[in-house]
Amino acid sequence: MENIKSYIDTHRDRFISELIELLKMPSVSADPAFSQDVLNTADAVKNALERAGCDHVEICETPGYPIVYGEKIIDKTLPTVLVYGHYDVQPPDPIDLWESPPFEPIIKETELHPEGAIFARGACDDKGQMYMHVKALEYMTQTGNLPCNVKFMIEGEEEVGSESLEWFIINSREKLSNDVILISDTGMIAKDVPSITTGLRGLSYVEVEVIGPNRDLHSGLYGGAVANPINVLNKMIATLHDENNHITIPGFYDKVDELSVEERAEMEKAPFSLEDYKKALAINDVYGEKDYTTNERSSIRPTLDVNGIWGGYIGEGAKTVIASKASAKISMRLVPHQDWREITDLFQAYFESLAPAGVKVIVKPHHGGHPYVTPIDSTGYQAASRAYEETFGKTPIPQRSGGSIPIVSLFEKELKSKTILMGFGLNSDAIHSPNEHYGIWNYLKGIETIPYFYKYFTELSR
Ligand code: BES
Ligand code: MN
Ligand code: MN
Repeated sequence: MENIKSYIDTHRDRFISELIELLKMPSVSADPAFSQDVLNTADAVKNALERAGCDHVEICETPGYPIVYGEKIIDKTLPTVLVYGHYDVQPPDPIDLWESPPFEPIIKETELHPEGAIFARGACDDKGQMYMHVKALEYMTQTGNLPCNVKFMIEGEEEVGSESLEWFIINSREKLSNDVILISDTGMIAKDVPSITTGLRGLSYVEVEVIGPNRDLHSGLYGGAVANPINVLNKMIATLHDENNHITIPGFYDKVDELSVEERAEMEKAPFSLEDYKKALAINDVYGEKDYTTNERSSIRPTLDVNGIWGGYIGEGAKTVIASKASAKISMRLVPHQDWREITDLFQAYFESLAPAGVKVIVKPHHGGHPYVTPIDSTGYQAASRAYEETFGKTPIPQRSGGSIPIVSLFEKELKSKTILMGFGLNSDAIHSPNEHYGIWNYLKGIETIPYFYKYFTELSR
């Protein structure tokens, strides 16, 4: 595979411009106004897989957005790698905080990315990372370096809970049969510190509404005499954490997998600078659950966060009013072995119990997903580790991530195979935020590393 570097050099500009074309398509799955763009993006992914050398590509219709499926089966006795990724992106809001329009990709140099980074919604999450696999396939098919079978499954609803994918998997077990699942939709510690993600948190996402009087009221005439839904909602939310920042929902921690002293000490070895962390976020201190480090708080511990809150008057100037309703969106990140449906029920029962007489509370569960952890002694992990050694000259560090890809635990349950998370993003890439970007170095390094995974996975599977 000595020619991978020269292949990338030769095709570098085209690899970048093809990704830029894909990033121009606003495939925002959360907003129905973009539905045609989401569908067009699925077509673009289909075409890209055909051009990269898949023998068979199809758009698989689902109750929601389609799944693009592609395959190249060279020999049924060889292993099969199933690549998963998503072509949908998060909404770009708040638009006015973008330095350039989210769907007009541009390349800019940054301190971290002197080679340039592509700025656009989806640049890293996940179009850039997904497309690395398409270009790695192109390299392998064009140069006779594909050592095994490959299947692609690229969905368009990851950012909204992967409901259709769940349906698709359960109905296509045979079609999706594989020996390992390979995903690039996570990050690595730093450009010079490669890491393999060995865990993802689960998720329970709920929306709550506190309903008071039948109409908005004059806050002078009624204030102090009726429950103010905004006051009440805030007090209820404040009750969800205690003074040590533990979550107060009864039973919430019952099934949490507590790590051993040894495991925690092992985690501590990963390079991390609290000073740099604070500096990057412009905060003067970190905050979180007592007795846990920042890394632990954001990976092995469950959390509860308000993602949005609204109600009442928020226009110019002052309006003296008691709103009749207040709402919030709340996410809970979960760790092994918390069950998201159980946690959602516990939340609902507790939150309802916090409501004072005089208001009504509605808890509406959105989507959820189970956490995932994967061992480091699997064939897939070992193959990935060797691949990084080859292209980074360093052994990657296993690291549990705080993010969620809820479908991964379902892959293991339904398809009975391990998922290997080879992420090439950085925390500073601003995924889900304004000015999302992906380093060109990271993009090309991913393309270079992926073919080695195929090589070593095939060799180690013999
Ligand atoms: N790619 C991310 C998840 C991620 C990012 C994991 C970085 C680890 C490191 C994915 O697209 C995502 O945003 N997932 C959502 C959950 C989904 C159900 C909306 C998340 O984690 O908030
Ligand atoms: Mn993603
Ligand atoms: Mn995402």
